[in-house]
Amino acid sequence: MPEIPVLVAGGAGYIGSHTCLALAQAGFRPIVYDNLSNGHREFSKWGPLVEGDIRDRARLDEVLNHYKPVAILHFAALIEVGESVRDPVAFYENNVVGSLSLLSAAQAAHVRAIVFSSTCATYGLPEMIPMSENHPQAPINPYGRTKWVIEQALRDYDSYTELRHVTLRYFNAAGADFEARIGEWHTPETHAIPLAIETALGRRETFQVFGTDYDTRDGTCVRDYVHVLDLADAHVRALQYLLDGGASRSINLGTGTGTTVNELLRTIATASGRPFPIVERERRPGDSPVLVANNEMAREVLGWTPRYSLEDITRSAWQWHTSSNLLG
Ligand SMILES: NC(=O)c1ccc[n+]([C@@H]2O[C@H](COP(=O)([O-])OP(=O)(O)OC[C@H]3O[C@@H](n4cnc5c(N)ncnc54)[C@H](O)[C@@H]3O)[C@@H](O)[C@H]2O)c1
Repeated sequence: MPEIPVLVAGGAGYIGSHTCLALAQAGFRPIVYDNLSNGHREFSKWGPLVEGDIRDRARLDEVLNHYKPVAILHFAALIEVGESVRDPVAFYENNVVGSLSLLSAAQAAHVRAIVFSSTCATYGLPEMIPMSENHPQAPINPYGRTKWVIEQALRDYDSYTELRHVTLRYFNAAGADFEARIGEWHTPETHAIPLAIETALGRRETFQVFGTDYDTRDGTCVRDYVHVLDLADAHVRALQYLLDGGASRSINLGTGTGTTVNELLRTIATASGRPFPIVERERRPGDSPVLVANNEMAREVLGWTPRYSLEDITRSAWQWHTSSNLLG
C-alpha cells in the first residue's frame, strides 16, 4: 500500500523527529519541512527533508503543491521561555506570523487537517490540579501567549473554513528513542533531564534546583514528564482521528502523575549510577509550583494511554546522551 504523505513542520526537532518515526511505523510518509534553526539534518530519517521556513509562503505553496499531503503536523516554533521574555518580537514573528502563514497555505492547498503543538504554558498559573482542558487559559510569558494566539486562530479556521485541528497541549516532553537514533538536543539546553545528565557526565559543574520551599511534598517543583514516544503515538492517533472526520479539539498530553525535582534527580542518579553535584537556588519568577495534566480526554477521544514510566524516560535519555555520536 502506498504511504500517505503528511507534512511535518519542525520535523527535524526533538518531538517532531520522534513523531516522524511513529508516523513511518504507522504507514505515513513524513515530509519534514524545517528551517534547521534549532533542528538537525541527522534527525530527518523517515522521509524527505525540505529546508524551508514557515514564514516563506511561496516555498510552502510549492511544497504543498508538490507533495500533496493529506494533513499537517505543526511543531515549528521557538520554544525557550526565557528567550521569549528577552526577545518577544522574534517569538511573535516566528510562532504567530509563521503559523498564520502555514494555516493560510494549508487553506489554499485544501489541506483539511492539522495537528498543532501547544503547551500547558497556555494555562498559566494553576487554579486547580490536575489541569483539564477547560482550565482558564492565562499564559504568563510571550512564549505561552504566542501558542494561545494560534489556538484562537485555529478555532476561527474551524468555524469558518474546512480546516479541522487537534491542538495537543503537552506537559513536559522527555526521554528518547530506545535505540538512541534521535533524542533531546536543544541549544541552549534548558530542560531538567538533559541538564542533569550533562552534570552526571561531568559536562556541567552543577545542577541548579530553583526553589526548595514550595508547598509540595519535598519543597521542589512538581512536573508531569511524558515520554516523547508517547507524545509521538498521540500525534498519530490525533491525525487518524481527524482523517476519520473527528471534530476539532484541544487535548492535554501528560501522564497525570507529578514528579518533584528531587525525585527526578534521584531517578537520574540511579539510571546513571553517578551521584552529581546539586546547588539550591532561589525560586525563579514565573515558575508554577505544580503542573500536572488531567489526561482523561486523550484517553477517551484518542484511546491514548502513556506506556512509559519515569524510569523508561531517564533510562532512554541516559542512553541517548551516552551513546549518540551526534552530541559533542
Ligand atoms: N519540549 C517540550 O517539553 C515542549 C512542551 C510543550 C510544547 N512544546 C512544543 O512542541 C514543539 C516542538 O518542540 P521541540 O522540543 O521538539 O523543539 P525543537 O526546537 O527541537 O523543534 C522545533 C523545530 O522547529 C524548527 N523551526 C523553528 N522555527 C521554524 C520556522 N520558522 N520554519 C521552519 N522550521 C522552524 C526548528 O528548526 C526545530 O527543528 C514546539 O512547537 C514547542 O513549542 C514542546
